[in-house]
Amino acid sequence: CCTVWVDGAPRVACVTPARRVAGRSITTVAGLEAEVRDRWAQAFCDTGASQCGFCTPGILMRLAAGSWRKRSSLPDGGPPTPIGRVQAPRVEPSSRSVETALLAHLCRCTGWRSILEAAELVASGEGPRPGRDLAAAARRAEIEGGVPQQVGPEVALGEGGFADDTAPLDALVAVPDSEGGWAVGETLLEARAAAGKIQGRRTTLEPGWPIDVPEGHWALSLQTTWTEPAYLETDASWCLPGGEPATPLANGGAFGGKTASPAPTVARRLADEHGRAVRVVLSREDTVRMGPKRPPLAAGLRADGSGAVRVARTAGIADAIGSSGPGLEVEEVDIAGPPTSAAIRGAGWLEAAVLVAATRDEAVVRSPAGASAEAHIDDDGAISITVSCGEPLDDVVLRSYCTGAAHMALGLVRSEAIAVDEHGVPHDLTIRSFGVLRAVDTPPISVEIRPGDGPAVNGSDAVMAAVAVAAWRAEGLPPRWPTRRGAASPPGTAPPAPGVRN
Ligand code: FES
Repeated sequence: CCTVWVDGAPRVACVTPARRVAGRSITTVAGLEAEVRDRWAQAFCDTGASQCGFCTPGILMRLAAGSWRKRSSLPDGGPPTPIGRVQAPRVEPSSRSVETALLAHLCRCTGWRSILEAAELVASGEGPRPGRDLAAAARRAEIEGGVPQQVGPEVALGEGGFADDTAPLDALVAVPDSEGGWAVGETLLEARAAAGKIQGRRTTLEPGWPIDVPEGHWALSLQTTWTEPAYLETDASWCLPGGEPATPLANGGAFGGKTASPAPTVARRLADEHGRAVRVVLSREDTVRMGPKRPPLAAGLRADGSGAVRVARTAGIADAIGSSGPGLEVEEVDIAGPPTSAAIRGAGWLEAAVLVAATRDEAVVRSPAGASAEAHIDDDGAISITVSCGEPLDDVVLRSYCTGAAHMALGLVRSEAIAVDEHGVPHDLTIRSFGVLRAVDTPPISVEIRPGDGPAVNGSDAVMAAVAVAAWRAEGLPPRWPTRRGAASPPGTAPPAPGVRN
């Protein structure tokens, strides 16, 4: 849980030295008064405000402390919250005050809006929303996330079951060293000291566009760059000698980023070598350096939707592009950079679908799974989405995943990128440097679900593509994504969104 209360006030635990809190009272999510904890957890579940659940215990602690009520322009919500008790709110929260309270947090899954709804639901004093089939909700979550996923109030409390949760306490710990091997220690601290690595920082290097657009006369062109999947729970696994390693995909699909994670194989090998249980734990910097990225590409299209795409050499990417852009000629090129993967959410087919739809001036996008989605962006930036993906199973979960996909699409088009040097080494090593849109940068997103007769299929990927088309079109189809990031942005594009890079 990234956030705890220190004498009743929310503090980010990971940057608070223990000596600063000597003699003070600390409350974790487990120490909240049961009634308060359950009310918030239920509200998160009722509104779909938690998917993998990695970010939500910290967010819940932030919101349960109630300080966002004081930031509201409405009358004050009362004195600071006493430890273990949350007063009944006296004011309706404003979305802005909740968004501002969330500045210290990052949720990659939900697209924030459902978290705002959870805060509103608690403030309204309404009870739990009955009548949901949580097993059906979990089926929808699995279809959207790609791996089995729990749905229930406990997930918001961090009890979704993460990869590292069940590791034996006496397991050795292994972390990547700086030479491509693994440093092993009795504790994480010892292993990190043995690895001798220096923690990464945000770089001053700007992202670039590594592939040139193919030669030709094009009606539309696009260059993209490396983006980080930015899943919150970094890769982890553990294994007993001769045993089966724990999956790093514990409660979420990591947007395809953990498909080829080294953690389980290494855990099994080291457990056998040492004759003891071994935990493998990757830090954020490790996941950026070692983990796969969305393959950068450069494309030119003619008015009829035919054209050429040059893309970073990646197994399966040509087929992915061809699945939604059959008229596109694909050339794979070798470029210096981090590993890329066609398993990253929508890689290749999304860009091709967006290019074809933009060239033909279409708004509806059909995904390879058979879903269709359409998105519009108002003048004030609000996004409205229509999605059809068979039997909805659970509207709350489906809406949450579609909202999260819209948030990710906006980031992909506008702000997400990592800087990579000429040797192919990533320099943006902190989660704040990936350009993921914060709550304050995320517009209202409404989702209309059109129930279909067919079986349930993934709908959020189609939504991601539809919102990417709408967002790109709203910007005037500039030739590079991200459109709003960095000094190297092409002239004529919108200025950086305030605070997108923090
Ligand atoms: Fe927020 Fe997954 S639910 S990061």
